[in-house]
Amino acid sequence: MSAYLEIKELFESAKAEEYLGEDITLVEHMIQCAENAQADGAQDWLIIAALLHDIGHLLVPDAASAQDSGIDMHHDDVGAEWISKRFPNNIVQAVRLHVDAKKYLVATDSDYFHQLSEASQITLDIQGGVFSESEATDFIQQQYAHEAVLLRKWDDAGKVRGAAKTDISDYEDLINEVALD
Ligand SMILES: [Fe+2]
Repeated sequence: MSAYLEIKELFESAKAEEYLGEDITLVEHMIQCAENAQADGAQDWLIIAALLHDIGHLLVPDAASAQDSGIDMHHDDVGAEWISKRFPNNIVQAVRLHVDAKKYLVATDSDYFHQLSEASQITLDIQGGVFSESEATDFIQQQYAHEAVLLRKWDDAGKVRGAAKTDISDYEDLINEVALD
């Protein structure tokens, strides 16, 4: 099965799944994140990273109830692992780093925490909390960390129920272009 068909199947089977603590479904949230990337003129690979950034949530059953109990299911690593078998390293890394990008932004931008949704503020603790100064410095020196920070901002802005104008089929060509053979 092609990566596109696998993604389409995952998105369709999770279509009604609500995004843990947010007023939007996970699938619409991921699509809005891709739309935000596209609107900012992001490169194709980064648009696909945005589209797939929370795929780990779709792959882990009971992620919502685990998170309610204060357990981090590491959807960043789960998603990156799945993506690594189907897409190049730039997409893998941007997805892997998108939770750390939140810890980085809270550490380096004093307004950022208050711009986060309540659910994102709560999960920050479960995910290990804000970075120290040296952790923030180490983070941003990694390859694709700057792109992960961009992704994080599209992510935070992609939580408006009913605002998505595209669906997964609109990304078929782009997915096929960037997927590994
Ligand atoms: Fe997200």
